Amino acid sequence: LESGSFDPAGFAAEIDRMRELTSAPFGVNVTLLAKREPTVIDVILEQGVRLVTTSAGDPTILTSTLKQRGLTVFHVVPNLAAALKAVDAGVDGLVVEGGEGGGFKNPRDVATIVLVPLVVSKVDVPVIAAGGIADGVSMAAALALGAEGVQMGTRMMSSAESPVHANWKDAVVAAEETDTVFLSRFEGPSFRALRTAYSTELERRDKWACGSSVACAISTSAATWRLRSRWAAR
Ligand SMILES: Cc1cc2nc3c(=O)[nH]c(=O)nc-3n(C[C@H](O)[C@H](O)[C@H](O)COP(=O)(O)O)c2cc1C
Repeated sequence: LESGSFDPAGFAAEIDRMRELTSAPFGVNVTLLAKREPTVIDVILEQGVRLVTTSAGDPTILTSTLKQRGLTVFHVVPNLAAALKAVDAGVDGLVVEGGEGGGFKNPRDVATIVLVPLVVSKVDVPVIAAGGIADGVSMAAALALGAEGVQMGTRMMSSAESPVHANWKDAVVAAEETDTVFLSRFEGPSFRALRTAYSTELERRDKWACGSSVACAISTSAATWRLRSRWAAR
């Protein structure tokens, strides 16, 4: 259950709804990039959530606070250095996410098939693989690479239960293997999105492609800002 789209009351209501829908264990995600941690953490503790994944930020920010309260903490990492830092911070496990994944990404993306076995070979905590995993075959591959489990984003977003608009789901399902685009590699925050006419245009405006043209740099910043604002408003 992601926490970034809700105010504290809405997030608490989502947790209640999760408990109505299932008696199975579940966890919540806290994106460290967002400036809402204090209130989100209060809700997590008040609601008795047992598992938190932290992502997009420094694992030292929250790990000890959550661990002191008895929660299990997994941190999402895009490379080996981040994995080692998270282990040093005391996490119970890692979500190791390759650059194939949708959403925010490290600008120096590493393929899941490279990253997962590398991290597994260097750490003693359990690893959940993410990035490009969408079915049983890719899940089996992740397990073969040494992961204990998988995290899926794009597949879940496209499911019947997802609140995302049907047109978006249909576009994801109809997409070909070349239909994602890595955006904002040079300015950040980088992310992988569905290829559309608009995202292809943004890809073209990436700073490297623009060279040193001031007009292009300004339009790139404006486009990035628009996307950031949209993302923040999710
Ligand atoms: C629309 C969308 C929203 C996402 N939101 C978050 C988020 O709030 N926090 C997070 O840690 N990861 C987020 N992710 C990343 C997913 O949790 C997951 O790690 C990633 O999508 C895995 O790659 P896949 O899309 O190939 O399955 C998001 C991904 C997508 C596609």
